[in-house]
Amino acid sequence: MADVRISGLHKYYGAMHALKGIDLTIADGEFAVFVGPSGCGKSTLLRTIAGLEDVDAGEIAIGGGVVNDMRPRDRNIAMVFQNYALYPYLTVFENIAFGLRARKFADSEISKRVGDAASMLGITALLDRFPRQLSGGQRQRVAIGRAIVRQAQLFLFDEPLSNLDAKLRDEMRSEIKRLHKNIATTMIYVTHDQVEAMTLADRIVLLRDGRIEQQGSPLDLFERPATGFVAGFLGSPTINLIPAVMDVRGNSVAVRLTSGEMLELPADKVQSAAGSNGKKVILGIRPQHLTRAGRAALPKGQIRVKAVADLIQPTGTRTYVTSRIGDVAVTAELGAHDVHEQGATLDYAVDMNRCVLIDPQTDKVL
Ligand SMILES: Nc1ncnc2c1ncn2[C@@H]1O[C@H](COP(=O)(O)OP(=O)(O)OP(=O)(O)O)[C@@H](O)[C@H]1O
Ligand SMILES: [Mg+2]
Repeated sequence: MADVRISGLHKYYGAMHALKGIDLTIADGEFAVFVGPSGCGKSTLLRTIAGLEDVDAGEIAIGGGVVNDMRPRDRNIAMVFQNYALYPYLTVFENIAFGLRARKFADSEISKRVGDAASMLGITALLDRFPRQLSGGQRQRVAIGRAIVRQAQLFLFDEPLSNLDAKLRDEMRSEIKRLHKNIATTMIYVTHDQVEAMTLADRIVLLRDGRIEQQGSPLDLFERPATGFVAGFLGSPTINLIPAVMDVRGNSVAVRLTSGEMLELPADKVQSAAGSNGKKVILGIRPQHLTRAGRAALPKGQIRVKAVADLIQPTGTRTYVTSRIGDVAVTAELGAHDVHEQGATLDYAVDMNRCVLIDPQTDKVL
């Protein structure tokens, strides 16, 4: 068990500045997920923690001790990669035992640790098989078993599920979360999949271009994004980002869409509306916050807007409907049976309490 403290971390590959000043604390026992688009530095950050990459500036401490000059094998870390090569000529048991044998553990201790790991992962019946006799998901479990038996103080995962098909990925995701509950060891998990990040993490660390864009609990980032980038990265279907202009008249504050449509904002949405009249903004509304309006009056902060359904995509549980409000395309996540007809005119209730306003110049949420 160990916490991880990183301060002022920089990493260059030649002229390429891959990590541009990372400050990050991961608590003992926490499940942290590094997420972000391809090339943002997730693997690099993970590999500096593992000691597989040297750093150019800054400090990394694990369990209170600075590890910058410590070899990877002395850091007491277990790692699982996307390409978890198993030894083809060794049984599952021997694959899991390999690291322990290399460290000259006693046979009895090896049997016990491999047995415990196998039962935790539900692969006890497979211990005598060879890797070629396993499914992809079973192989992935063996790779994780190999990491568990080390009883390391810190687990690092780099996209361990990206080679699996969607269904298996869902299954393994739950198992990794359960594993974390069972062994309660600090884990850091790299993925570019926002669903994986949301479902696994105690803390999401969202990276962008070598920097931490925002970190916090999954719902924190989802509901209170600091920037348009964060708002756009998390959530499926993607948040609607609509160009608009602030319209302030006395106490009433609204955003005006390019089509002329006026959407009134709840008072608490604009801290200092004074002076913002005419300012360009991006209005962010999640597809979940557009619903079909009935005849009754809407709750406070929701407004009624007419839209024409252009594209209807049922998923079974929910139906995604892309419609035009004036001249902007907006996607709503509706009930499975809410809309059938393309071209239908709908009355939406837009929950303006939940919208975000983004400054198009700085990308910051206002
Ligand atoms: N060995 C290397 N030499 C030079 N540049 C590198 C090296 N490794 C990584 N980079 C560069 O550093 C940046 C960060 O790479 P990194 O592998 O950390 O990204 P990532 O966030 O893990 O992306 P992905 O989701 O594609 O795995 C990228 O621009 C990459 O091209
Ligand atoms: Mg990577």
